[in-house]
Amino acid sequence: MAESSATSNKLNIPSHVFDEIAKKYASGLGGANSDIVRELLSRCQEEYPISEESVIHDNACGPAIVTSSILDSNTGSVPRIFATDYAQGMIDVANTYKERKGWDSVTVQFMDGQALEFEDEKFTHSISSLGVFLFPDDKKGLSEMYRTLKPGGWIGVTSWKDVRWPAAAKIAYDRLFPDAQEPMQLPNVKNWEDPTSCRSNLLDAGFKDVKSEVIPCINRQPSTEAGIEVLTGFLRSLSPTAKAWEDGTWGEYCKHFGDAIKDAFVPSLDGNGVECTLYAIVTSGFK
Ligand SMILES: C[S@@+](CC[C@H](N)C(=O)[O-])C[C@H]1O[C@@H](n2cnc3c(N)ncnc32)[C@H](O)[C@@H]1O
Repeated sequence: MAESSATSNKLNIPSHVFDEIAKKYASGLGGANSDIVRELLSRCQEEYPISEESVIHDNACGPAIVTSSILDSNTGSVPRIFATDYAQGMIDVANTYKERKGWDSVTVQFMDGQALEFEDEKFTHSISSLGVFLFPDDKKGLSEMYRTLKPGGWIGVTSWKDVRWPAAAKIAYDRLFPDAQEPMQLPNVKNWEDPTSCRSNLLDAGFKDVKSEVIPCINRQPSTEAGIEVLTGFLRSLSPTAKAWEDGTWGEYCKHFGDAIKDAFVPSLDGNGVECTLYAIVTSGFK
């Protein structure tokens, strides 16, 4: 009998993995992360609106999705933004946007979110979309966000409830290795997968008036085959188990993975390609 393929320990994702996926990250998520950031910023607008006096941290910025959305929607009053990440590949993409779009009020810096180089109480808004929940030490990440936020300042973070592909990855593994003794290693962020846990994480870090809710978002791809291809690319980078396989085993696995995930993609309502609905969690609060 195959052992349960659930992983019990948190799998740390080293920065070189995010370097590898930096260039294909945005297309791989097919706009789902932008949907999430839109929802997060609309929550920010209701609870603690951004103004030109704001000093914002886009923590674990990746390709600067939060920074982009803020600047696109605040064209009149441009706030100061510090975008940081610990993967050089992501920093390079963020810097390319900064140069191309002339973001004079944005500073892009290579920095570990678990040891921020900013002084205490610097920011009015501390934001980490799909970021701090992935840190090897997410508690340290939150405590750094708390330290660097002004009293009364706003925190907004997001995490995945259901990103769909890990369940398909486990099914494919069990089909290819029905007698496996070891589970497939996958990123495991169990303490961020429901609003109650997300709320507790922020309260435990000292934040107050914390709210958390599940939101849908859409991964849009030109075709099911293209969707499967980007997901298998992520999977090979993110799973040490998959990374260790020879190409032959990987090819066999990909067939099973494709079978397990293909029905998650349905034709888009607008007739352009396919889409897969994912679920994220938006959590916000105050210091
Ligand atoms: C899923 S991406 C999210 C990127 C972006 N915020 C977005 O909304 O799409 C996760 C990001 O977290 C970064 N990251 C993970 N651990 C980190 C750490 N300890 N310090 C700084 N960045 C980290 C990764 O390099 C990657 O860019």
